[in-house]
Order: sequence, then structure tokens, then C-alpha cells
Amino acid sequence: MDGKQRKKIYSRWMEYAPERWWGDFVDIRFFLAHRLRELRGKTVLDVGANIGVIAYEMAENGNRVVGLDTDCQALEIFHRLFAHKGWDTETVCGSMERPPFAGETFDTVVLGWSLYCLGNDERKARALERLASLVKPGGALYFVEANRRCYIQGHGQECFWTVAEACKFLESGGFRIKEVVGWNPLPSLVFWLPWRLKNALPRKLVMLLYPPGRLVRFLPGWYAFFKWIGSCAFAWKYCRSYYIHCVKTATPPPASGNS
Ligand SMILES: C[S@@+](CC[C@H](N)C(=O)[O-])C[C@H]1O[C@@H](n2cnc3c(N)ncnc32)[C@H](O)[C@@H]1O
Repeated sequence: MDGKQRKKIYSRWMEYAPERWWGDFVDIRFFLAHRLRELRGKTVLDVGANIGVIAYEMAENGNRVVGLDTDCQALEIFHRLFAHKGWDTETVCGSMERPPFAGETFDTVVLGWSLYCLGNDERKARALERLASLVKPGGALYFVEANRRCYIQGHGQECFWTVAEACKFLESGGFRIKEVVGWNPLPSLVFWLPWRLKNALPRKLVMLLYPPGRLVRFLPGWYAFFKWIGSCAFAWKYCRSYYIHCVKTATPPPASGNS
């Protein structure tokens, strides 16, 4: 994705909901949008669609996108964003834990930094099972989230996984991994401090000392560099976030405790 396209995405945030903007000029979701812009003629469920900035990237290329989110106010902005282009808007205010669809309806499901909202593996597994049942055989799932190992981003939080854990989880849900990209492995200024000391620092200070996004975006070629290094497995361990594209291979086994 070139700088012009990234600027367009940023302007959409600024115009429609600046307070909801990702806050990072080198965010992995620029890469997610890049990959999703390659889709044509697909029926897509964008889970945790928020104001529809990612959905917009797909709709612009002739895909039918349904936005699902628990945040109804965000979906109202989604409507405005799409109405401005004269596109039909399909949104559902509801939870991915009980998606109100039936059968293998979608070619593609997008989980763009939203599955972690469920907090624990049990809820996530149940939601994935339900979402997988909506994907046509051979259909795709795009997954983006923070890396639990990354001090700045995942911050050791249980709701996030490492790259390996996420791959294992998706495979156990009946998906075959097609592409993994670990995004932004650059260390922060506090990287060298002992783990315990880093953890004791106030979060606000840590974010202030978190230079890469602010500085790196001015370096020519950063995007191509992130893309290249992110495809090398050694960069996955401490990368800030990661992207996984996988394909549905089988009906996943039922999750235990499913209600
Ligand atoms: C970090 S935001 C990501 C938004 C968007 N995908 C993006 O990348 O800009 C997570 C989104 O997931 C939504 N969300 C949280 N819990 C959800 C649930 N149970 N079902 C559907 N969406 C949910 C939130 O309202 C929020 O819009």
C-alpha cells in the first residue's frame, strides 16, 4: 500500500471519528487494508467493524461488506461513511459471540484487532467456532492482533496471543495458515531495561517513549521493510502485532461448553 492510500485512510478517520483513530501511523491495519484491497466480488463479514474504515477498503473494490459490532454508535458513523459514497450499508449491532447469521454465508471473515475483546481463550474459541461456521468451504479468515510478547503492544496481557499461539488456535478451529506477517519488530526506547523495571513504569510514560510509529513513518521505505522483515519467522517473536491469513479447510470440532 502506498503512502497516498495510507493518507486516505488516515483522512477518513480524521473526518469521521478522529477520537477513534488507531493512533499509530505505522499500524498493521494499513497492511491488513492492503491485503483486503486485493479482494474482488466477495461477501465479507467484518467483525468488530467499528466505523467501517477497513470495510470501506473492501467495498471500494466491489466487495459486499457486512459490518458487525457491539458499538452501535460506531456503526452509525459506518452508515455515514458509506452513504457518502452512495453504497448500500449492511451493519448489525451485535456480538460476534452470537452472530445473527446462518449457514456458510460469507466468502471472507475479517477479525481486525477485535477477537481479543472477548478476553479469554474459551470465549474466543466459541466465537471462532461460530464465525467459522459462517465461512464457505475454502473461504478465508483475516486475523490481526497485538503480540502478547511485545512489551509495548500486547504487554503480557492474557487476551492476546503470540504468533505461534494464534496460528495454533486458528488451525484447531479448522483453518489452514496461508500467510503470516509479524509487524514492526523495532525495539522501543525502553526495550533494554529489565522486564520488571519496564513493567513498573507508568503506561503514559512508556507510550511517550514509544518512538517507532512517530519517527519511522518519515523514513522512506519503512513499509516495504516491515513487509519484508515481517515475513521472516525470526521477527515474529517480539513484533508489535501480526497478520494471519488462513483458509477454511474443515468444519471445526465443537468447542467444549458451547451453549
Ligand atoms: C480495537 S477495535 C478494532 C476496530 C476495527 N476492526 C479497526 O481495526 O479499526 C475493536 C472493535 O471490536 C468491537 N467489539 C468488541 N467486542 C465485540 C463483540 N463481542 N462483537 C463484535 N464486536 C466487538 C469494538 O466495539 C470495536 O469496534
